[in-house]
Amino acid sequence: MDKFVVRRSGPLHGTVRISGAKNAVLPILAACLLTDEPSVLNNVPQVTDVSTMVEILRHLGVEVDVAGPRLTVRPGRYTGSAAPDEWVSKMRASICVLGPLLARRGRAEVSMPGGCVIGARPIDLHLKGLQALGAQVQVEHGKIVVKADRLIGTPIHLAGAFGSSVLGTDNVLMAATLAEGTTVVEHAACEPEVVALAEFLTAMGAELQGMGGPLVRVTGVDRLHGAAYRIIPDRIEAGTFMIATALLGGDVTLEGVRAEHLGALIDKLREAGAEITKRDDALRVRATRRLRAVDVTTLPYPGFPTDLQAPMTALLALAEGVGVITEKIYADRFMHVAELNRMGAQISREGASAIVKGVPRLSGAPVAATDLRAGVALLLAGLAAEGETDLSGTEHIDRGYERLVDKLTGLGCSVRRVAVADAAGDAAAAHSLGA
Ligand code: EPZ
Repeated sequence: MDKFVVRRSGPLHGTVRISGAKNAVLPILAACLLTDEPSVLNNVPQVTDVSTMVEILRHLGVEVDVAGPRLTVRPGRYTGSAAPDEWVSKMRASICVLGPLLARRGRAEVSMPGGCVIGARPIDLHLKGLQALGAQVQVEHGKIVVKADRLIGTPIHLAGAFGSSVLGTDNVLMAATLAEGTTVVEHAACEPEVVALAEFLTAMGAELQGMGGPLVRVTGVDRLHGAAYRIIPDRIEAGTFMIATALLGGDVTLEGVRAEHLGALIDKLREAGAEITKRDDALRVRATRRLRAVDVTTLPYPGFPTDLQAPMTALLALAEGVGVITEKIYADRFMHVAELNRMGAQISREGASAIVKGVPRLSGAPVAATDLRAGVALLLAGLAAEGETDLSGTEHIDRGYERLVDKLTGLGCSVRRVAVADAAGDAAAAHSLGA
């Protein structure tokens, strides 16, 4: 068990290179199950969610070689069709093996995900889509089993109460690539990570049209082959560093980003008073004074991403004025609010909104990360707070941020990773694992 020891930092200066997108690589790893030929993925972030997906593939009988950011996946004639509970319970994104296993092996078994800390996360749209393609779905003893001798293309309307589903769209697209005939997914998710999956599937020989829009047409093919793909930059990691710079002040250049994936955030940060300039694959963020409060509503892409809502709440906690944050994706994704308030923030909840009254200062406190994005929000708040913040629950942050301590210290932040056993005992034995 580790914790982060965070001290007040800023202004930030320097350059940070953005890693490959966790949320793009997870379904792409699952898509490798659609063929027996090897695929090579580059720019893969070394985060624990990727390790979890690699373990799931290995359990299914797939060989995976990991060489830094380059993964070679050799499915061969893998025989597994059940994702092990032990790994599935760690990561809900494991649900995206359903579509490819069904299409290639005719059967897939995954434990039924329950609610999680960011709220209810149903999978009805995944199952509706697979059923429409001809799968039989059974949910028994906490397991989902989907089976089909053949899948047949059809129009599928995939909208839920909260709009489109990212991994639901992924599952249906993957299954449809090997179905007979044409599938049209209506209300497909438009997130860049879905487009990345569609690009990878196309490189494997799938026939897709309309990716990136709400209507995607898939013409089934008999077989797919292996492919090479470079994972797109992580827009959420990029957004986190942009928010950090706006919050702590300074002048930071992010390298290896796609500004077109960050439009909603760029717009809000400019409205709040940060200066943002784009150059090729770089974004420069400058902030010289306290930011103004803004209102933010999370929405499916190209709207403001829910995965940046918590870091943005930390920014508003110290902005001038009152900002209202409204969650339209996960109505209960506000676990960070109580922890921010322990640090002196003035945030109140009203249904799916948080009213954030900016305060001039926060004060460091022991706080706990409950999920990935809530955790990183508390880390940013700790960097802006007076005194020291002890942040536990670092394992949540490690799920999705590659070398975060290194990258932050490179910009001038004071943050150390400390093994908790050491910290509790001899302070001198505490060691920084930042490198
Ligand atoms: C993806 O989750 C991301 N995960 C999440 O990233 C992200 O928060 C989310 O999309 C929204 O952008 C990965 O890509 C691995 P959804 P996903 O299905 O696909 C409802 C992070 O921090 N819904 O698009 O599981 C659902 O409850 C995370 O990196 C249904 O009603 O999310 C939500 O309100 C966590 N029925 C909305 O749709 C369904 O069958 C969008 O969820 C599926 C979803």
